[in-house]
Amino acid sequence: MKKITYFGHACFELDWNGKSIVFDPFIRGNSLAKDVNMEKIMPHLLLLSHAHSDHVADAVEIALQSNAECIAIYEICSWLQKQGVKNVHPTNVGGKLNRDDLTIVHTPALHSSSFDDGSYGGLAGGFVLKSGSDSIYFAGDTALFSDLKLIGELHQPQWAILPIGGNFTMDVEDAIIAAKWLGVKKVIGMHFDTFGYIVIDHQNAVEKFKSQGIELHLLNIGEQKLLD
Ligand code: NI
Ligand code: MN
Repeated sequence: MKKITYFGHACFELDWNGKSIVFDPFIRGNSLAKDVNMEKIMPHLLLLSHAHSDHVADAVEIALQSNAECIAIYEICSWLQKQGVKNVHPTNVGGKLNRDDLTIVHTPALHSSSFDDGSYGGLAGGFVLKSGSDSIYFAGDTALFSDLKLIGELHQPQWAILPIGGNFTMDVEDAIIAAKWLGVKKVIGMHFDTFGYIVIDHQNAVEKFKSQGIELHLLNIGEQKLLD
């Protein structure tokens, strides 16, 4: 059973057969997510795609309250450790690890990555999560890049969580190409509406995907969805 909950921007909780995986927490600083009760977010695994504050702002707090294992690139894990987070597992793009029946693959992305103070955040990335033939791709922040074809070929995801807001990442048009290259028919949109630069027309986005035979799901903040 796979269930996803949206906490706004690029933050999701994926419940995969009872294991909770949270991606890119940015909640307290997101006025659209003001109704999310962050104290109740208690993941087993916390995955961070890159160091920008709209992806890691609440990582330390959630890591400390949950003792989640934090999986991120080496530079982000070092930053977490300096703030007292002990349960870290540093990876880098291309790395794979197994947690019970779940395989996590750290994928590349085409984006920058630095902390708020300007210090180096390593490379931006994303993650594929796989169990048996079930496969979900969380792209992180990225431009359209041709290695999405490789990710599709290697990992054959059924679902992709893709940025669609443009300006800092892919927009809707590029995300449709990304979905085709990945071979997915079901997409969950992220990285839209949070800031003025990335406000989108929801209905127009859904219709553009639909015209290409691809489902685009835009979850409301707090909404849960079963992934089948
Ligand atoms: Ni970013
Ligand atoms: Mn971002």
